[in-house]
Amino acid sequence: MSTLAIDNVGLLVTNDPALGEPPLGVVRDAALVVEGNRVAAVERAGVSADDRLDAAGRCVIPGFVDSHTHLVFAGDRRDEFAARMAGASYEAGGIRATTEPTRRASRAELRELTGRRRAEALRGGTTHLEIKSGYGLEVEAERRLCEVAAEFTDDVTFLGAHVVPAGFEGSSDEYVELVCGPMLDACAPRCRWIDVFCERGAFDAEHSRAVLEAGRKAGLGLRVHGNQLGPGPGARLAVEMGAASVDHCTFLDDSDIDALAGSETVATFLPATDFSTRQPYPDARRAIDAGVRVAIATNTNPGSSNTTSMSFCIALAVRDLGMTVDEALAAATAGGAAALRRSDVGRLSPGARADALILDATSHIDFAYRPGVPLVATTVSAGRVTWAAR
Ligand code: NIG
Repeated sequence: MSTLAIDNVGLLVTNDPALGEPPLGVVRDAALVVEGNRVAAVERAGVSADDRLDAAGRCVIPGFVDSHTHLVFAGDRRDEFAARMAGASYEAGGIRATTEPTRRASRAELRELTGRRRAEALRGGTTHLEIKSGYGLEVEAERRLCEVAAEFTDDVTFLGAHVVPAGFEGSSDEYVELVCGPMLDACAPRCRWIDVFCERGAFDAEHSRAVLEAGRKAGLGLRVHGNQLGPGPGARLAVEMGAASVDHCTFLDDSDIDALAGSETVATFLPATDFSTRQPYPDARRAIDAGVRVAIATNTNPGSSNTTSMSFCIALAVRDLGMTVDEALAAATAGGAAALRRSDVGRLSPGARADALILDATSHIDFAYRPGVPLVATTVSAGRVTWAAR
């Protein structure tokens, strides 16, 4: 098998404390040796290999793992965003505004739109991402979204329970039956996960539990959108059901933090959403200090967070959520992998998928220190260069 060395790395973040300085397993003056699509070894700089990428003393980190996106949709809601910046508030019901254009779009259009967003994320350093359905909200439309998503990732999430769609006013029981029955049957073959938006204006705890139980019976792993717009049962339900992750977590009280701290459920913060909806930022410091495992993700979607940029999320996490730079970088890489219950991504140690970013910087601190600046010079995905700045 041919080898590739990413050589002359001034500062290599491995996310494996057995390989280097804690907490990020930092190795200086290093070479990352790749065999096929996997990391083979971390060596001193100056190794020989069949091919070589010269990092020229710069920093190399694991590719970002974006564990929460809604990448498959049509249309935009920029007027809604502008109105919000002028004082309007964000509401869960806005999701319905994207349902109509998404249902109308052809499969080819959805594939093209999703492909463009995926390419944009890759340029920003996202080497692995999760994609949710959730803008079809009828059986065939949801099936199509899951099928398109599966062309881009093996972490596809069925989110038929995103919001109760038009036509089911006053009959959410009936819609939940549809989600747990024919819609789940149509989507499950393409999916690894099921998710529910457990929130005022979306699904209450009882309906959310029913959706998660049906998903589990169909063999899917569990995820929850919770505690986004106010305090609520989402985080505790996620822990009770053994969900891999509860996402948003903007409003966590002491009992939520206690429950999360004693669990396997990752708290995934989505700071670009709080930015874009003018919400308060969550207190990640409090969660981390209590022992909660955390991740950060973009939540790319047309309503509450129209960005694919993990770098932007890192800058916000450091500036406004109370994370240190090391914690934010770990949350955007190893944390995302934990939220997706994967051990093959989010780290650069032997056996991991060779997903690495050569930065246009000598330290990862620049993600927060130089916010908004494109810092990814080269993206390597599964051992191949998939993007490079000119
Ligand atoms: O995570 N919270 C639910 N879903 C998306 C909102 C999507 C939308 O407004 O279209 C979110 O913020």
